[in-house]
Amino acid sequence: MRFSLTVAFSLIAGAALAQQTADAVQPEGSTTGAAVATTEAVAAAQAAKDAGEPVTAENYIVAAANPLAVQAGVEVLAAGGTAADALVAVQLVLGLVEPQSSGLGGGAFLIWYDAETQELTTLDGRETAPLAATPQLFQTKDGEPMGFFDAVVGGRSVGTPGTPALLEDAHTRWGGLAWSRLFDTAISLAEDGFEVSPRLAGLIERDAERLGTFATTAEYFLPNGTPLSVGTVLQNPEYAATLRKMASEGADAIYTGAIARDIVETVQTAAGNPGVLSELDLAVYQVKERAPVCATYRDHEVCGMGPPSSGALTVGQILGMLDSYDLAELGSENPESWRLIGDASRLAFADRGRFMADSDFVPMPTAGLVDADYLADRAALLDGDEALEEVEPGNPGFDHSRNWADDQSLELPSTSHISIVDSFGNVASMTTTIENAFGSRLMTNGFLLNNELTDFSFRTHSDGVPIANALAPGKRPRSSMSPTIVMKDDAPVLAIGSPGGSRIIGYTAKSIIAWMDWDMDVQQAVSLPHAVNRFGTFDFEAGTSAEDLAPELEALGFEVNVRDLNSGLHAIEIGETLQGGADPRREGIALGD
Ligand code: GLY
Repeated sequence: MRFSLTVAFSLIAGAALAQQTADAVQPEGSTTGAAVATTEAVAAAQAAKDAGEPVTAENYIVAAANPLAVQAGVEVLAAGGTAADALVAVQLVLGLVEPQSSGLGGGAFLIWYDAETQELTTLDGRETAPLAATPQLFQTKDGEPMGFFDAVVGGRSVGTPGTPALLEDAHTRWGGLAWSRLFDTAISLAEDGFEVSPRLAGLIERDAERLGTFATTAEYFLPNGTPLSVGTVLQNPEYAATLRKMASEGADAIYTGAIARDIVETVQTAAGNPGVLSELDLAVYQVKERAPVCATYRDHEVCGMGPPSSGALTVGQILGMLDSYDLAELGSENPESWRLIGDASRLAFADRGRFMADSDFVPMPTAGLVDADYLADRAALLDGDEALEEVEPGNPGFDHSRNWADDQSLELPSTSHISIVDSFGNVASMTTTIENAFGSRLMTNGFLLNNELTDFSFRTHSDGVPIANALAPGKRPRSSMSPTIVMKDDAPVLAIGSPGGSRIIGYTAKSIIAWMDWDMDVQQAVSLPHAVNRFGTFDFEAGTSAEDLAPELEALGFEVNVRDLNSGLHAIEIGETLQGGADPRREGIALGD
């Protein structure tokens, strides 16, 4: 088994939790997993989502991007498992049924609330740049940035996967059921087959040319040259074999031995665009425990993943700036609310672009960026009635030299978010990714390899000034993933997160505002039409009432754009009951008991 840097703590906490779970009486009112996660229950959860209503549960609940994955998690929880156990089961099934978004070849961030210690912990399972990579990895011979997909497709973009090690670490710390048992559903589905979903089929068709680049990937997604169609029963015996190995050997099965050699060979021999990932990179990979980053918003603490993610800092900055404005009074349909949200986002993204990267490699003003006085100064910039004409990074409290970064990533829809609450009161909020849809398009042993390295800046300098998010060996690329747990009076009240590239930040912040200020339940909050602003256009969700806001915000001076906005928010409210909401833009559900 692999252990993270905090091995001693892991062993003690893991053993204690195993005992806690073993001693636990089956929660009152709970039933076996098979009885809870029935086809009828899934249909009812889907109907609730379609009706715009949350799913309510008393004991435990899972919200994630695919019903089969949710069912696997619910079965584990019903059997007395913890949220960490369920997280493993959900991720392993997602890697099969939603392979375009996340899996064993990718990375993830987890924020965990431990009911026993009443503490929050974040685990960083982000991919690392290979030790042999140079800062110029994504530059042409002339020193210019490569085209995005020229960089993505192939071995060059593949970072050392972190998800297998994170799953093992989370289970070692907080799991209760046997590790190998958590693989059962995913193995059965991989061997017996599952029906290709409309979303997966649509994305395969759209990406057929790139998926056709490499034989192994093409054979799986484009059998006989034809994209898999909706409802095809798809088996993945190679994935099943990988899972069986990992079930018995732990994450080492991925990081050492035959599978590690296959990953490296796949990367290094990728025709036309090989990479430099080595067996050493895999062997030395470590999950990092990091302090959660929290920002205060309306008597709540909004907590999430700090660097190398920009998620919690940028969500926290947006909310921190808005704290002094009465969005509840203004309401969700008032353009003034959206002016404030839009410009708070632009200011936060300006800081994100300049300061945020892997703080193990570059000095970062992490605390300064969410300092209340600093955010009050930034919030004062929002005092006018029109869009800000100029948006510049601020001067957060900082005692190191400053870098300048430019956002080079063209982040397209991929990634997945999982929220889980177990019957012990533990909460897991994990965002998981292989970056672009289908990652690098390289596949081995039944899973796709990530293209996470393209989340680095392709340029190393701008006008001679170094960019914080430039690539370095062993460094983790800046992320936008924002797995969040909102706390009130030291207790968790909301778990939430989303896919969506750098728009993840806007989706998450907006949903928290909807839930907190506009009194929406979690389903209403995740369903609310999107209006998100990063650093460029103010984007309004096509085909929704958000379109009506576009001309009004344009009149205030914003550059507007109406487009599809593919979030995948999965949220759980933790109150007297548990309420789950699943994003209507994707195929997921919330289900519990
Ligand atoms: N690759 C998406 C993210 O990490 O934000």
